[in-house]
Amino acid sequence: MRVLVTGGAGYIGSIVAAELLGAGYEVTVLDNLSRGHRAAVPEGAAFVETDLADRQALDRLFREQAIGAVLHFAAFIEVGESMNDPAVFFRNNSANTLQLLEAMLAHGVDRFVFSSTAALYGNPRRVPIVEDDPLTPTNPYGESKLIAERMLFWLHDRLGFRYASLRYFNAAGATATRGENHQPESHLIPRILQVAQGRAQDIKIFGDDYPTPDGTCVRDYVHVLDLASAHVLALQALEERGRLIYNLGNGCGFSVREVIDAARRVTGHPIPASVHQRRPGDPATLVASSEKIRGELGWQPRHPGLDAIIGSAWEWMRRALA
Ligand code: UFG
Repeated sequence: MRVLVTGGAGYIGSIVAAELLGAGYEVTVLDNLSRGHRAAVPEGAAFVETDLADRQALDRLFREQAIGAVLHFAAFIEVGESMNDPAVFFRNNSANTLQLLEAMLAHGVDRFVFSSTAALYGNPRRVPIVEDDPLTPTNPYGESKLIAERMLFWLHDRLGFRYASLRYFNAAGATATRGENHQPESHLIPRILQVAQGRAQDIKIFGDDYPTPDGTCVRDYVHVLDLASAHVLALQALEERGRLIYNLGNGCGFSVREVIDAARRVTGHPIPASVHQRRPGDPATLVASSEKIRGELGWQPRHPGLDAIIGSAWEWMRRALA
């Protein structure tokens, strides 16, 4: 089967595209290269450079290629950016998702794997978070993804559209050939490693007065290869099932300070840190229960340790971003 991977030149999309090729799927990558890198698109994947806002280009693609399913990674992802420029997140993440879904419906493609997010949960009432906990995003990024999930619910309910929504917690780590390279980089682990590489002076801790054990925000870091294996499982499960919603995380929370300490262990660099104001929109704690996908699809994270996750990112960064 040929699958369309939107955002397949980006960090998670390119790694999942490579895993899909390895699992025997034919892959077409669609990306506008606004944030992604052409070089990250795996060899063996067809590449279409276009924007999801271009409906004619989507129609052409679905007419010319026998696409059996779509995995939709293309999106803006930064919480901080979404607080400053909410409209662009609703345009890019909600409206463009609708455009893609309409094109799929028009061409009879009805299997969809959606990159959703822990940001849907906002400040959770309890951790670990389960899938039917309240969805109350604290930032436009999370809201833009929640709107897309609501659209998917109704397409499934009214039209039998089949979808899996995978709510990633904090994607991290790298493979031997692909890793995280956002420009500018806002994510915690690559920013810490930039300090270890000598590309930044120190790591800024955004707030140490949160209601957490050491006052810094707690997140559940999950290796990008474990996210990839979940996508393959979800795609296979859509053969039989119509609506799947799963959290993807390791069930362990690490504070910003704990992540910095782990990076000091891994790199042997002192990594100076300084405390700054909170970043608007950040929930204090996000930790997943992933029991549902473990139980239903047999998902088993193979790289759950924080040091190993950071180690893989560090190795890739030293090779690729020297
Ligand atoms: N942080 C710092 N200093 C930095 C960068 C980040 O202290 O230089 C803190 C943030 O304030 C936050 C934590 O580190 O408390 C993690 O921040 P990231 O930017 O790495 O990740 P987020 O949790 O904000 O968001 C990420 C993805 C989202 C996704 C979310 C799910 O960017 O797309 O994980 O948990 F929705």
